[in-house]
Amino acid sequence: MSTETEPMLPTPYRVVLRTAQTSDTATLRLVPSGRALAPFRAGQFTMLYARGVGEVAISISGDPSTRDGSLEQTIRAVGAVSRALHAAEPGTVLGVRGPFGRGWDVESARGRDLVIVAGGVGLAPLRPVVLAVLADRASYGRVVLIAGARTPGDFLYRHEFGEWTGSIEVLRTVDRPAPDWTGEVGFVTEPLARLAVVPGHTVAFLCGPEPMMRFSAQALLRKGVPPAAIRVSLERNMQCGTGLCGHCQLGPLLLCRDGPVADYARAEPLLLVREL
Ligand SMILES: Cc1cc2nc3c(=O)[nH]c(=O)nc-3n(C[C@H](O)[C@H](O)[C@H](O)COP(=O)(O)OP(=O)(O)OC[C@H]3O[C@@H](n4cnc5c(N)ncnc54)[C@H](O)[C@@H]3O)c2cc1C
Ligand code: FES
Repeated sequence: MSTETEPMLPTPYRVVLRTAQTSDTATLRLVPSGRALAPFRAGQFTMLYARGVGEVAISISGDPSTRDGSLEQTIRAVGAVSRALHAAEPGTVLGVRGPFGRGWDVESARGRDLVIVAGGVGLAPLRPVVLAVLADRASYGRVVLIAGARTPGDFLYRHEFGEWTGSIEVLRTVDRPAPDWTGEVGFVTEPLARLAVVPGHTVAFLCGPEPMMRFSAQALLRKGVPPAAIRVSLERNMQCGTGLCGHCQLGPLLLCRDGPVADYARAEPLLLVREL
């Protein structure tokens, strides 16, 4: 199957499965109608186009070892384009460009401990990391996922947590508990603060609201984890996805090309810059 696609030309992909994750979030499974995009790395994103509505950046949330050109993407309905994508039923044809950006560099965590911290829809670009680790569990040390959500019903992929827990440690916390919630209540930084880590042997991947990433990174720095071993995923408005238009500029970085994943050493001063 050819994987050569023009970066500015949307490639038609058909929705074959739509799985509701929460009240406002759904995962689409997409298969190429003709040519497929190139294989992706965990942490990369595509530009997803809903015909007649528009195009937005969405992380790839599926298994990075997939070689049949299919994609899984998890979309939270927040505005016109994401609402149209979120509502796409099986049979709908969407345009897809990509994959774009630097990923998490999961390889760098081989032989080391890995701490994954996700807030809300921030778990979407981290799911490929979890799947890559599960597929090759013996190559990693201790792996801990700390996931936060507004309520228990707001966790993405919650039907997969049971399977993940067999291989990695999964700690979940919510802002607002439901009556049957027996887990933790509070920010992800609370279980993170209690976590014992071996600083020189640990890599951390963080994705979620920027204050969450900042506070989580600070907690890890206090434990002695070096900034270069902490990676965050940064979101800014994307248009071309190919480093040409400048819309995604954040300080010296063009996030579609130099990000969205960046070392905390580079990202820390930029997290203070507000999006215009
Ligand atoms: C690299 C990258 C990866 C992304 N991955 C995903 C993903 O996997 N899944 C996903 O659902 N989204 C993801 N996003 C965010 C997504 O691109 C935006 O939600 C989308 O652009 C919104 O476009 P819209 O036209 O639907 O809404 P707009 O009309 O642009 O926005 C409507 C309202 O929602 C607010 N809003 C916009 N984005 C967000 C947001 N992320 N969270 C909360 N409120 C917001 C706006 O401020 C505005 O008030 C990603 C963004 C980037 C840059
Ligand atoms: S989105 Fe155009 S330069 Fe990054």
